[in-house]
Amino acid sequence: MAYKQSSMNFNISNKKVLLIGGNGLLGAEYTSYLSDKVKYLSVLDLSSNNINKYINDENITFFKCNILERKKFVKKINTAISKMKGVDVLINNAALTSEFSLKNRSIFNEFDYETWDESIKVTLYGSYLASIAVIPSMVKLKKGQIINVASHYGVVSPNHNIYKGENFNCPLSYSVAKTAIIGMTKWLATKYADKGIRVNCISPGGVENKQSKTFIKKYKALNPMKRMARKSEFNELLHYLISDSSEYVIGHNFIVDGGASVW
Ligand SMILES: NC(=O)c1ccc[n+]([C@@H]2O[C@H](COP(=O)([O-])OP(=O)(O)OC[C@H]3O[C@@H](n4cnc5c(N)ncnc54)[C@H](O)[C@@H]3O)[C@@H](O)[C@H]2O)c1
Repeated sequence: MAYKQSSMNFNISNKKVLLIGGNGLLGAEYTSYLSDKVKYLSVLDLSSNNINKYINDENITFFKCNILERKKFVKKINTAISKMKGVDVLINNAALTSEFSLKNRSIFNEFDYETWDESIKVTLYGSYLASIAVIPSMVKLKKGQIINVASHYGVVSPNHNIYKGENFNCPLSYSVAKTAIIGMTKWLATKYADKGIRVNCISPGGVENKQSKTFIKKYKALNPMKRMARKSEFNELLHYLISDSSEYVIGHNFIVDGGASVW
């Protein structure tokens, strides 16, 4: 009997997407990638400097927000949903990364209380708050998706040695928040699987971003592919998860790290 190939549907032009943290290194890449593919894109972030060229597009709106201002943040999410007249996909991409912190705050210690507090609030509470804000309308419509962004450092510990002598690091709070996001993905995925809501997670490995030559050398030595990720290398996975082709995929953590967490 001839094998009948299933009809795959990678079309995402009917999707209304809410992207939290769409102005950073990967966020701006996602904004650019999705800008001409989805029906409507609402981007929430602290600023829009990297994505200004997209926000005049008819189908893209930027909402300035600060996750640390909890009530205002949730209000902005609801405003974005009203403007799009619904939401099909939430992407939780914001995080307090050390690169961001170096530019924006003076303290970024590996495990001091201030870093822990802000990092957990932005990275973990931010994903939690956005999720609980969209779930009621998704439940009502019996469809929707949440795509969380964790990290390979939510799966394995960073090798602390590679940060020695660098002006950035991977704090304890970052790993803890990312591990928790993977747990939250599984909990929400199973809770809402029979209500039409799919929850998955992407865990990128380290992305090239003008790090020092010594850091890149140390990082490469720990990676089976002997290189860091390029910022475009998560786009197609994101596309697949947004599309209806991933209809039967829930609760997964897709680790895209060139095998760094495998050995
Ligand atoms: N770049 C990497 O190597 C890498 C590796 C693994 C995982 N990740 C994850 O991918 C995602 C994107 O990473 P990135 O490299 O683009 O980081 P980034 O620091 O460039 O972007 C993070 C975004 O979060 C936003 N943000 C921070 N604090 C906020 C607040 N209080 N309110 C609202 N927004 C706030 C920033 O403005 C920024 O746009 C993050 O979740 C990160 O943890 C990145």
